[in-house]
Amino acid sequence: MRKQYRAEGLDEADLAATPVEQFARWFKQAAAEAHLFEPNAMVVSTADAQGRPSSRTVLLKHFDAHGFVFYTNYDSRKGRDLAENPHVSLLFPWHPVGRQVLVRGVARRTGRDETAAYFRTRPHGSQLGAWASVQSAVITSRDDLDASYAELAARYPEGEQVPVPPHWGGFRVVPESVEFWQGRENRLHDRLRYLAEADGGWRVERLSP
Ligand SMILES: Cc1cc2nc3c(=O)[nH]c(=O)nc-3n(C[C@H](O)[C@H](O)[C@H](O)COP(=O)(O)O)c2cc1C
Repeated sequence: MRKQYRAEGLDEADLAATPVEQFARWFKQAAAEAHLFEPNAMVVSTADAQGRPSSRTVLLKHFDAHGFVFYTNYDSRKGRDLAENPHVSLLFPWHPVGRQVLVRGVARRTGRDETAAYFRTRPHGSQLGAWASVQSAVITSRDDLDASYAELAARYPEGEQVPVPPHWGGFRVVPESVEFWQGRENRLHDRLRYLAEADGGWRVERLSP
């Protein structure tokens, strides 16, 4: 599959009208044809107010014309970075098919209704975990984390509704640019980038590999 994609390359004429449609095509190929493990795993890079970067893997939970959505703890390092500086990049490293997708844009918190609707779809244990973890904070021991979880599990047994933690929710990344990278022979890779235009349309440009 990697060989086939390498040979075919990525041509301007074959691109979808919008980056989200193009992303949907590649995502489907990564998942359904190439059977990549967790193709929705993406590297989210943020920077704090001083411009110091940090990256981590996060799961993409939804995407459509409005943007790319992931869920996390708003008090985590990434949550604090994004509160100070909403500029973000998302990288999908689809190595087995010789592809990567790079989204740059601005992250906004999802509405509480949207967050609650997603939270309800999560397994009971994950809902408790969102309460038990003070994500990114230094903790004294694993035992403290397990004790905190056990306390919550006693308070909200299976079947009982777990409230949505106020510090937990989604970010929607509204893309400003989306680059599709296809590995080719002799390092002459294809790089096609959609850039958002003021009228809501997209301009496509080719980048040198
Ligand atoms: C495959 C994978 C998926 C992950 N998915 C998420 C996720 O959806 N949300 C999240 O907050 N952390 C997720 N994590 C954990 C993050 O990588 C990270 O450790 C955590 O969010 C704290 O990051 P921060 O301290 O930079 O804010 C995932 C890690 C891996 C390896």
